[in-house]
Amino acid sequence: MTKKFYVTTPLYYSNDKAHVGSAYTTIAADVLARWRRSLGDDVYYQTGVDEHGAKMEKAAKLAGFKNPKEFCDYQTQFWKKAWQDLNISYDFFIRTTDTEHEQFVQRFIKKLWDKGEIYKGKYEGLYCLGCEEFKEPSDLIDEKCPMHNSKPQKIKEINYFFKLSKYQKILIGLIESDKFKIKPKERKNEVLGFLKKEKLKDISVSREKVVWGIQLPWDKKQTVYCWVDALLNYLSGIESKSKIFWPADLHLIGKDILKFHAVLWPALLLAGGYKLSKKIFAHGFFTLQGKKISKTSGNIIYVSVLVEKYGADAVRYSLLREIPFGQDGDISEEKIANRYNNDLANDLGNLVLRTITLVKKAKLKGEILKVEVSSLKIDNLLQNLKFKEVLEKIFQEVKEANFYINKEKPWQFDHSDKKLRQILQILQEKILLISKSLEPFMPETSTKIQSQLQTLKAEPLFPRIK
Ligand code: MSP
Repeated sequence: MTKKFYVTTPLYYSNDKAHVGSAYTTIAADVLARWRRSLGDDVYYQTGVDEHGAKMEKAAKLAGFKNPKEFCDYQTQFWKKAWQDLNISYDFFIRTTDTEHEQFVQRFIKKLWDKGEIYKGKYEGLYCLGCEEFKEPSDLIDEKCPMHNSKPQKIKEINYFFKLSKYQKILIGLIESDKFKIKPKERKNEVLGFLKKEKLKDISVSREKVVWGIQLPWDKKQTVYCWVDALLNYLSGIESKSKIFWPADLHLIGKDILKFHAVLWPALLLAGGYKLSKKIFAHGFFTLQGKKISKTSGNIIYVSVLVEKYGADAVRYSLLREIPFGQDGDISEEKIANRYNNDLANDLGNLVLRTITLVKKAKLKGEILKVEVSSLKIDNLLQNLKFKEVLEKIFQEVKEANFYINKEKPWQFDHSDKKLRQILQILQEKILLISKSLEPFMPETSTKIQSQLQTLKAEPLFPRIK
């Protein structure tokens, strides 16, 4: 039976550009989507951009755009280009300024209003523009938001509040019983710790002074709080699709936006009468010399620069190979360059080049693609998002194949020797197996290897970088 698989990334803030942090989630989701498609599953992969809110309004002005929408249109092309450069096979790219999305948000929030899940109140407190989040003094260090190192604004306005507090107990039950799965375990414990320690407050879901947003249908002076707007993309994006993908199977996110996805999102779904998403997986941060890579810290490594220099597959490979998925870890261009030179150019590239050259010399035909090779046992690891471990396993095969060549020394044999044919057969089968296992991670390389096995035209897969 075909299974459906609906996977999402967060929506990236439109004013930013794709850097290694944003690429991380997108590549991971892409690997899963490609892997599930290869199993024959019915996959739907959605990503996109988060375009409303005070932060965007400000960024548009700063960039000299009169109209925030024009700014967002301008920015969107860079996001799409980055994902295209990285070979991201999303099924739908959503923008929160899409009319269908805006209308969906209005219908959804009106439903909550009609059901009495939302009430009018007064908000007085702190707001961090970087996070687009209301803050408690206890969230701050030296009165500053630790993530953005800046003092939140004091705001005082009439808002509409969502009755988040009434979902506290229900959420604890759903998370504890794994009916709503939060992974890895530390993140589940973090959410449970928070839910058990603090009394949830109702949350303001509209803004009075933010013009750049979706209007509340019953009060046109207010706009929908941008996090509610953005979270609803997971539902609005599949509304018009003919297939039934809901509930989402997996939301991949970074750990900084866990609370929104593990508390606010399920509560909104419950209030709207929807099934809960099945699973949330929050990965760690990429750091550069110990500091989170972000626009705010100014230590950005942009994807476009890396792809241009190393190619899509080397970036896809290095980011997932470097750090166990779920943990924080340091990344640098040097590390990516080392992976390129050692694992890809030396180990994998040379294995393929040497083998194909020998096969051609021995005047064998490129018929290996017809051979059925067994598969590496990686499904279980992929199911648990153990990307690093899968890549280690595949590259262990690469090492063993290189070891096998060095041991058997096929270049010493006469071209017509039967033993030579046997060795080359084994090597080609190993390479075919490696290329098939690599497909979700390195689609271009996988295709190139298979085409070289077929045509016997050997070319270096990872040429030296000048
Ligand atoms: N727009 C919101 C998400 C709304 S989803 C309904 C947002 N956008 S973001 O652009 O700031 O971040 C998007 C994702 O990128 C988050 O999952 C975040 O964790 C991830 N990363 C941003 N910087 C990162 C690193 N340095 N390392 C790893 N991932 C990080 O939040």
